[in-house]
Amino acid sequence: MIAVTDLVKQYGSFTAVDGVSLEVKPGQIHGFLGPNGAGKTTTIRMIAGLLKPTAGRILVNGHDLAAEPEAAKASLGFIPDRPFIYEKLTADEFLRFHAGLYGINGTGVDGRIGEMLDLFELARWRDELVESFSHGMKQRLVMSAAFLHRPRAVLVDEPMVGLDPRGARLIKDVFRRMADHGVAILMSTHTLEVAEEMCDVVSIILKGRIIASGTVDDLRALAGGADEQLTPVFLKLTGGSGLQEIDEVI
Ligand SMILES: Nc1ncnc2c1ncn2[C@@H]1O[C@H](COP(=O)(O)OP(=O)(O)O)[C@@H](O)[C@H]1O
Ligand SMILES: [Mg+2]
Repeated sequence: MIAVTDLVKQYGSFTAVDGVSLEVKPGQIHGFLGPNGAGKTTTIRMIAGLLKPTAGRILVNGHDLAAEPEAAKASLGFIPDRPFIYEKLTADEFLRFHAGLYGINGTGVDGRIGEMLDLFELARWRDELVESFSHGMKQRLVMSAAFLHRPRAVLVDEPMVGLDPRGARLIKDVFRRMADHGVAILMSTHTLEVAEEMCDVVSIILKGRIIASGTVDDLRALAGGADEQLTPVFLKLTGGSGLQEIDEVI
């Protein structure tokens, strides 16, 4: 689970995240939807323990991030929007390095790496250098690393950017399977289609504030009708602001 209460991040006099509260329960895929610059990455980086909040409380799987940072982070997986990968490692070496970071070693490592590479359809490339991988393959490798230590909660920042349809399908399936096993997933996206297709619950963020939260059906109802598509709902909720970036991808 992930529970965030009244989270704030200020950069000087600018407030990037302005009192965000949200909860992701075990087994849920929670979509964090908003236009570019809304504060999604800043929020996710605070939950990942990479950025210190100005104010607010973060609980990860029952551990307060400020009081028990190691326990909180050990139970969390994080897939950043622009991951750094050592290009001169093979897929196997990259995952072995990550396993070491999480204290996974000994006889179970080989099997666990194999399982992750199978899940993300990378097993054939286990001993190939990462520099030869396509964008989608690199993204899948980063996901393999994030799930390696069996986290109970996973943060994913814009996972669908630049993926081909097959890669996107695979990732959607894997996330759903992980959620079905009780993993809580918080996934940011600026595309309505992704939120609508993948998420059990959606929170819409605009200028650092959550302006609406609920199931996709709840959000449709908010805009006045069960038959409505989410696009006009979003337009209505945001007053049409900040949607240039979104228009490109709908
Ligand atoms: N290090 C920083 N210093 C100052 N402003 C920042 C910094 N990082 C992000 N911002 C600003 O905070 C706002 C939210 O950014 P971000 O969280 O990256 O949005 P999103 O991920 O929703 O696109 C943006 O206006 C961005 O320019
Ligand atoms: Mg972002």
